Amino acid sequence: MFYPEELVEEVRSKNDIVDVVSGYVRLQKKGSNYWACCPFHGEKTPSFSVSGSKQMYHCFGCGVSGNVYTFVMQYENYSFPEAVKLLADRAGVKLPELEYTEEQKARAGRRARLLEVNKEAAKFFYYQLRSPHGEAGSRYLQARELTGETIHRFGLGYAGKNGAELVQYLRSRGFEDELIKEAGLANYSERHGLVSQFWNRVMYPIQDVNHRVIGFGGRVMGEGEPKYLNSPETPIFDKRRNLYGLNFARTARSGNIIICEGYMDVISMHQAGFTQAVASLGTAFTPEQANLLRRYTELVLLAYDSDDAGVKAALRGIGILRDAGLTAKVINMRPYKDPDEFMKALGMEAFQERLDQAENSFFFEIRILQEQYDMADPESKTRFHREIAKKLCEFSEDVERDNYLQAIAEKYFIGIDNLRKLVASYAAQTGLAKPIERPRSGVQTKAGPEESARKAQRLLLTWITDEPAVFEKVRKYLSAEDFTEELYRKVAKRLFTDMDGGSFNPAGIISTFEDEEEQQAAAELFNTSLPQLGTRQEREKAFHDILFSVKKNSYEYFSAKLGSDVNALNQVIAGKKALEELAKTHISLD
Ligand code: CTP
Ligand code: MN
Repeated sequence: MFYPEELVEEVRSKNDIVDVVSGYVRLQKKGSNYWACCPFHGEKTPSFSVSGSKQMYHCFGCGVSGNVYTFVMQYENYSFPEAVKLLADRAGVKLPELEYTEEQKARAGRRARLLEVNKEAAKFFYYQLRSPHGEAGSRYLQARELTGETIHRFGLGYAGKNGAELVQYLRSRGFEDELIKEAGLANYSERHGLVSQFWNRVMYPIQDVNHRVIGFGGRVMGEGEPKYLNSPETPIFDKRRNLYGLNFARTARSGNIIICEGYMDVISMHQAGFTQAVASLGTAFTPEQANLLRRYTELVLLAYDSDDAGVKAALRGIGILRDAGLTAKVINMRPYKDPDEFMKALGMEAFQERLDQAENSFFFEIRILQEQYDMADPESKTRFHREIAKKLCEFSEDVERDNYLQAIAEKYFIGIDNLRKLVASYAAQTGLAKPIERPRSGVQTKAGPEESARKAQRLLLTWITDEPAVFEKVRKYLSAEDFTEELYRKVAKRLFTDMDGGSFNPAGIISTFEDEEEQQAAAELFNTSLPQLGTRQEREKAFHDILFSVKKNSYEYFSAKLGSDVNALNQVIAGKKALEELAKTHISLD
């Protein structure tokens, strides 16, 4: 832990979760909780709840949970210490200087300086554009039909006639040559010394999700090579993990995110109201970017150029998105080349129609595949059908595969039984795809007896957090040792110790874990959906069953460890006794 636990807890308790979350999303009070559309997945009806009494949030749609730290970490993409810092500042709590090693200090300081110099460069370009020197840039952007508001919003700028001015300016603001160079803003040349490669271009600052400038793209005005010049990768500019426009798109809440190829496409889509558009950074779309998108949406619409290169990029993108567990659809831009041209020619309503008609990514893949085959030639047509069968094997879920099989058979006039046989024979040769692993799910959801034992443990912990009064009854039969999953046991130990001492603070337990995934998993334990039970009798039966199930699982767990674990014998003896007693006891919940 970077900071002492008491301090972490002080900061947490001074930041009411309802206040903090309402700074990011619009909450509405319903019953004892607050509700909103979930900021971590696309949805139209609110399933994201924030509880003031528990000081936790939970989404019943996508399953995210946590306390105020987890929220800030997930929303801002912050590390734990960064989240502590933000919330300490917010509450006016002074944090001690962190005991960094020299190396950590140098690295943290370096990153901060790189961000500063980029920000300063962005300011320089911004003011240049608005100065008399920047007239050429202004004219260019106006010719591209950008409004003053759009230019301002994206912080667009202009790099003047020579590359020395930026360097002079940055030096005058106290930045060392070494740093300017490391930020990728200039290079040494024998003849001119340190000069920027950015000159005579309009400048597009590239921002991370927190609106911090991390690099630049510079475009020639008119024809010229290279069309774009981008900052090189630096310690703060990772082209694989950032997306242009995501700082705005992440709060668009449109139920989807559009990815396209170009900066200009993003800007003109945003100008037309499609603020969910993003682009990769002059490089191909990556799995890291797909993962990033998964925080904000389940549906990605591809708006790649309609030329061959664009189709190829779309096919690649579809595969990456599918692996990340996201749904992809393809927008048809024809007869225009890209969203920017489309928007200028036909406008936003026509574009919205294209969004609504976006093609299912599997249909798109098959349609493109077909172009390689000659349907008039039986030989070629057969090969096409084989390829379809192979692709169908990529669906891991039977229902989904069969639905696609039916749809494709119908679309391409293939006998459905023949296609089924073909799929079966490929599946026999190469096997069907394995289900996708979703790394973000926190607690694993395996079916079977193990999962049901885990579920009982989660239900019990949630029940205690919802109704602390039942703890006394739980305590009679169970100890924290009865929670057999390691993380559950850690959480139960804290909860039981706290409650034995008369305090109750589940939200505080979450921040004893630093890792976002662990916080999420711990929070899930306090946010399992309890069965909706009407009568007191039903509730008492359910409570009894859960207690029994947790105890029985623990008894079996320790029985299997007899001989190898010195604790096991005691646990087994106590377990047997408790089970016998539970079997004949009625627990009343008054
Ligand atoms: N790109 C690049 N370097 C180039 C050409 C392109 O980095 N020499 C990247 C840029 O990120 C650009 C994207 O690829 O935004 C798409 O390229 P392109 O379609 O040529 O550019 P547009 O964004 O459409 O720009 P414009 O409309 O101004 O021509
Ligand atoms: Mn373009």
